[in-house]
Formats: sequence, C-alpha cells, structure tokens
Amino acid sequence: MASAKSGNAAKTVETSFPWDETLAELSGPADGCLNIATACADHHVAAGRGDNVAVRWLGRRLERRDITYRQLADLSGRAAAVLAGLGLAPGDTVAVLMDRVPELYSAALGIWKAGGVYCPLFAAFGPGPIKARLEVGRARVLIASEELYLRKVAPGRAGLPQLEHVLLLGEDGGSVRPHDGCSDFRALLAATPPVGPVATTPDSPAFLHFTSGTTGTPKGALHTHRAVLAHLVTARAVFGLGEADIFWCTADPGWITSTAYGVIAPLAAGATVLVDEADVEPRRWYGILHDEKVTAWYTTPTAIRTMMRFGAALARSYRENSLRVVASVGEPLNGEAVSWGQKALGVPFLDTWWQTETGAIVVANAPGQGRRPGSMGRALPGVEAAVMRCDGTAPKAVEAADTVGELALRLDWPSMFSGYLGGNGLLTNCFREGWYFTGDLVKQDADGFFWFIGRVDDMIKCGGLQIGPFEVEGMLMDHPAVAEVGVVGKPDLLLREVPVAFASLNPGFEAGDALRAELLSFARQELGNVLAPREIYFVDELPKTFTGKILRRVLKAKALAEPDGTDLLAALPPCPGRFDDE
Ligand code: WT7
Repeated sequence: MASAKSGNAAKTVETSFPWDETLAELSGPADGCLNIATACADHHVAAGRGDNVAVRWLGRRLERRDITYRQLADLSGRAAAVLAGLGLAPGDTVAVLMDRVPELYSAALGIWKAGGVYCPLFAAFGPGPIKARLEVGRARVLIASEELYLRKVAPGRAGLPQLEHVLLLGEDGGSVRPHDGCSDFRALLAATPPVGPVATTPDSPAFLHFTSGTTGTPKGALHTHRAVLAHLVTARAVFGLGEADIFWCTADPGWITSTAYGVIAPLAAGATVLVDEADVEPRRWYGILHDEKVTAWYTTPTAIRTMMRFGAALARSYRENSLRVVASVGEPLNGEAVSWGQKALGVPFLDTWWQTETGAIVVANAPGQGRRPGSMGRALPGVEAAVMRCDGTAPKAVEAADTVGELALRLDWPSMFSGYLGGNGLLTNCFREGWYFTGDLVKQDADGFFWFIGRVDDMIKCGGLQIGPFEVEGMLMDHPAVAEVGVVGKPDLLLREVPVAFASLNPGFEAGDALRAELLSFARQELGNVLAPREIYFVDELPKTFTGKILRRVLKAKALAEPDGTDLLAALPPCPGRFDDE
C-alpha cells in the first residue's frame, strides 16, 4: 500500500487490489455465480473440512452445541427448501428476530441459499421500531423466537399485510404452541430434505440492515453477495483468521457486526465461530476466553469499559489465554483502553472503523498496518480513504495533515452498500464524484492514521448502537401530552451517550414527575429499552432555527450542563499517546 510519510501523506491510494483472486477462491468454477452460504459452508465440505466445527454455541447456562461445516451445509439447505416451499422469490426479504441462538446460522445461510435477503432485527427493539423495519424492508417471511414474536410482532400483525409467513422457534429447543399464521421452524427443518443454492451472482442482494437517519423513517442499507469478498479479506488482514482459529464476536444479531463478523467472515475463513447467548458479564467472559481457547476476539468499547471497571487483576487471573488478536468497533477506543488490553489480557485492543454502509472493516489498526493507540487506524489494503471537504460544491481532499474534514471512501469496495431502501434523496447526499461520504469527521496524521472527531449529524451513539433522534422523537409525539420534542445524546460513562428528550407540552397537561414517569414508560413500551430516552426534561419551548428546525446543538449543550452529567465526552476523544509496534 502506498502511504508517503510527509505532506499529504495521508492519502492512501490503492488502485489494484486482486479481488478477482478472492472471487475465484470463493466461487469455485467460473460460472458467474457467488453465494455467501456456499462460500461459508459447502465450500469447506468440498475441500474436506466438513467435520471441522463451524459454530460453537454456548447457552445462557453454559450448555454447548457444536455445528460442523457439514451439518451447517445440510441445515442451511433444509432452511432454503423450507423457504422455497413458501414461495420465496429471489430478492425477497426474510426478517429474523432472535437472540444469539444456533438457528440464527441455519436461518441466515438458508436465506442466502434460497436467494433471499437476510434482515436481522434487534431483539431489544420495541414493537414500533420492529414494525417500521418490517414495513420498510417489505419482509414476506419472518423467522422469530416464539416469545419475541408474541410480545413484539403478533399484536401488530394485522397491520403488516405483506408479511405472509411466520416461522417460530420454541423456547429451549422445544416445539411451538399453535398460533394463527405461524409454523414451527425446527419441525419444518427436520421434515424437509435439503436443496442446493439458487444461482445468485455477486450482484444479487443478500442482506439488509437498518441504520437510523436524522430525519424520516429508518433506512435499510442493502448489501450484495459480493460483500463476502471483503469479509474474507478483512478476516485475514485484521484477525489473521484461518482454520485453526476460534473466533468470538460478541455482537447482537441485529447489528451488522454480527452478520459480517459473527457469521460471514469467520465462516468464509473456515474458522470456528463461538457464539455466546448471554450478555456482557466480565467474569463469564474471562472464563469463556480461557476455557474455549479463543484466539481472536471482536467486541465493543462499551464491553471493554465494563471489563475495565472490574479491574485488571480479575482479568489477569485468567491470563493464561490463547488470544492472538482482540479488536473493537462502534465508537472511539481511547489509548488507555488499548494498553489496558495489553496489561490485562496480554494483547492490545485494536480499534477498527466501519459502518453499516461499508459492510466490512475499512480502517483499522491491524497487524502489518501499524498501530497507533487512540486512532482508528489506517485504510486497509484495497480501500481508498481520504479526508474531504465539500465547501458548497465539489468535494476537495484536505491536503494538510491533522486537519479536520469528512471521511470519504472510494466506491470500488466489494461490501459497499448498494443503496438505501426507503431512502428519500439521501443517496445523492452521501455519494459525490465517485466518493462515499461517511458522515464522520476525522483527522489524518502524517503517517496515514485516522483520528475520530465526531459525527456531522445528530446521531446518538449508545453502547455502539447508532440511534437516530427522529425515530425516538416521532414515537414520543404520539403521546397526547407532547407538543414538540427534541432528542439528543447525553454523555454516559459506560455507554458513551444515552438518548434524552426535551419536550414541550400541549395545553391541559402538567409538567411533573407523574407525567415524566408516564412518558418514560410509554417510550420503553413502544420503543424498547435501547431506544427509549433515559430522561425527559420539560421545557416551555424548544430552541429552533428561524426556519423552524429544532436546534439539537442547543439541547445538547443543555444536556451537558445537567448537574448529574459527567464531562465524559471531553475525556473520550482520541488520546495522543503513540507507539508503533511494527
Ligand atoms: C458509526 C457506524 C461499527 C460497525 C457496525 C455498524 C461510529 C464505528 C468507530 C470507531 C469511532 C466509530 C462512526 C460510524 N464508529 N467505529 N472505531 N471509532 N467511531 O455501525 O451503527 O452503522 O455505526 O459508528 O460514527 O459512522 P453503525
């Protein structure tokens, strides 16, 4: 990779990455076909690796289940046959609503073999956001756990006419009770012989993840089967993954991090992917890292901060581990956390940067790439990244090092999204002259490392999850007491930011603790605990521009000034410490 050392070094230019070689490796005979599921399962069976463990699942009570590559190829063929039997046509969306359970893998790979579009949803979302995503994604089929379906989808099913079939997973591996318009997914898998994949090409749509906008409904970023090329290449470049690895990605299935690195990347690389059903619990985590001999681990700064709170001594009591690489994504990882990894686990945490839209890691501190604690890292081989400014008209690269601008990426990257579903003109806003504008403000130092500064928009980053204020505001406006509302991120020690709301009230409603409690519970009910605001402040009037747009900047300053607000944001931005280990 070309990366000069002075002046505008910073530009990382990569012109001819051999993507064709990766395509040939994954697609077999040159018939123009490429299917993620085949690349992730059948390919390994054909190469004699069928008995290797593809998925090692740990249940909440630490029960274990292994699925070999051969079994995964078979199960996904059965799931594909079930979906074909329901009349699923290539390009149709299949939504998935389940926790980290083994069936996630047969479902995802089955959907790809059937030519469908895999669209996993956050189980923590409430009925409102789930319904909005099923509608925008035009899901024809939903595969869900029985409990989540009954609580979050069934009450609004009548309002989802395009949702033709629902396949359910009974609790604890058991069968499903009878419900109108639903069938038992596991029973169908057992009864249906497997089929092979339909003939998808690199350009066939494959997965859909929702990302929040500052305005309008959530937008579904659509990716194609070609993305698997970037997943395999980054699995190797960042994590060095191969057959001998046990790779653990802690992401929730609703996050693209799970699709890319909890499913596709490790399987395409032939590794064993470890999946733990439980949520963050440092003691359990250290136990798993140790007992399961995890070699590569991908998690989030929120999880790392939780571990740091438990202290390095606890980590060191499990020091005998097999870890080679640990990395994080979702929000900035400060230099202190990077070196804490070294102290506590024997390996530094590596920060990686990407987005739902880029589909795979594009900027990273990676072996062979150089590392600089506190920075996001450098552009990976095959990626052209630059700091740009759009002053009015044409985008221009920022020439000087250490100067703030928007991070932009050249478009020839296999996992770049192909567009937003339900978008309304946004496409033209983020693509200019062959560059994709990420919405992140960054600086690049003279050695090509990028440093995160902030977002150009009002996005709230809560525990790595991106929350669009508009979706939260829209739901609060449905309450009769609320006249106007603005939602912003308030600093939080653990989650970085949490959504808080400023609301003005309609006549006849009285601001006070009773109404506050009612609104908070209304929001949790409708939106789920993750999206619901943690606090509501009542104001007489919201600050606005003279065109009537809510000035979230002013609200943010107010949220920061709240007496119980910490000055965390000041502490989090990139820390200047630097050491190159290469
Ligand atoms: C936004 C993307 C994260 C992958 C899954 C999809 C922020 C991500 C970093 C990092 C600072 C980061 C950016 C980005 N972000 N990684 N290493 N340092 N910020 O995530 O929900 O689409 O969010 O997350 O603002 O644009 P997403």
